Amino acid sequence: MSLIKILNVVGARPQIIKASAISRAIRNHFSQEIDEKIVHTGQHYDKELSDVFFDELEIHLPHYNLGVGSARHGRQTSMMITGIEEVLMKEKPDCVILYGDTNSTLAGALAASKLHFPVVHIEAGLRSFNKSMPEELNRIMSDHASTLLFAPTNAAFKNLISEGFRPENSPPYTIDNPKIYLTGDIMYDNTLFYASLAEKKKLLFLENLNLKKDNYALVTIHRDTNTDDVLRLENILGTLISLGRQNSITLVMPFHPRTVISLKSKLPQLYGELCNLEFVRIIPPVTFLEMILLEKNSRMIITDSGGVQKESHFFKKPCIVLRKETEWIELVRNGTARLVDADPVRLRNDFLYFIEKHEELEYPGFYGNGKTAEFILQEILLMFDK
Ligand code: UD1
Ligand code: UDP
Repeated sequence: MSLIKILNVVGARPQIIKASAISRAIRNHFSQEIDEKIVHTGQHYDKELSDVFFDELEIHLPHYNLGVGSARHGRQTSMMITGIEEVLMKEKPDCVILYGDTNSTLAGALAASKLHFPVVHIEAGLRSFNKSMPEELNRIMSDHASTLLFAPTNAAFKNLISEGFRPENSPPYTIDNPKIYLTGDIMYDNTLFYASLAEKKKLLFLENLNLKKDNYALVTIHRDTNTDDVLRLENILGTLISLGRQNSITLVMPFHPRTVISLKSKLPQLYGELCNLEFVRIIPPVTFLEMILLEKNSRMIITDSGGVQKESHFFKKPCIVLRKETEWIELVRNGTARLVDADPVRLRNDFLYFIEKHEELEYPGFYGNGKTAEFILQEILLMFDK
């Protein structure tokens, strides 16, 4: 029997982590049916944003690395399209799997759909309804170039329907007759798997940082709206410093390089203060297992990341979202995530609210049964009559 060949396109940190769920499911359940190849666009290239995940999560090293690096969006995306197109011509996969909403996702969608390779989009249908976000444009365009669309939540599935996707379509599926699914979230699969692995490995990461369970808030910031706007960054960090000090709560900040670059160049004094405060730990980006430990043992999570918002839910931690809106709207409706934008008053009020109420919050299962990757692969095989 000939194997179905899939080509995974990854480029940014969260995509490498997401691809590990698919790789693991292939290894464990579909190695007789599916052959996978990985193309890394090189959007993320620092060791701690890329290589560490291949090592730690035991993913096959990329078969191709396009080495595109950082650049303005148009230039970066066009270099990716050129590189992916060449890989597609050589590999001729049966389908291309894309994850999320980065420039690497969009490049994969354009390159594959124009050469008539079926596109499978994992994390389809998420919308912020804010087209000034690069990710929102990437999502919409990638969804509309896809043949199989896997929506992780009810809200995402409904968004697809309201954009004209028809749940009643029947096979054969094509870009003009796409199939939409309501699945769970492959990141929930990953969290279950790697949380248990992190437990077994007995890492001393928290001890080495001198962190005590439930006595620190985990903070991540990397969205361009926050890193590139000095006033927002100053408001957020200034308010967090005073909250940490007044409430004797440590602030752990594994910052994306873009945040540190911004702080050093635009707010050097604040950066110096943060580095010297005894209750603040600015650290380089951490590995996924370390991140899981940080999330699981925190008192609360404060973030502008999409992935970290959900992980706060997986670990039953309240989450303050440093954005105006979120694609993971069920978290806000559930009352366990609160949108504060970069407003010092809202940040302060919600921080204090969560300190007081965290034991009363509930975290229903919004994100599937932990076997979403297997479901997705099964459906891909069905598309090819396997
Ligand atoms: C990208 C995604 C974002 C995702 C994030 C995950 C887009 C438009 N954005 O944002 O959706 O949430 O990845 O982390 O695709 N840099 C480094 N080292 C690296 C990579 C980047 O220092 O290895 C710095 C560079 O200064 C670069 C900046 O970070 O200009 C931004 O990188 P880029 O890949 O454009 O966007 P992210 O902010 O990482
Ligand atoms: N993450 C990590 N180390 C870090 C910060 C984040 O492993 O130092 C993981 C995090 O647990 C989540 C993913 O990276 O699974 C989220 O990536 P990011 O916040 O960069 O992007 P987003 O999800 O917003 O696209």
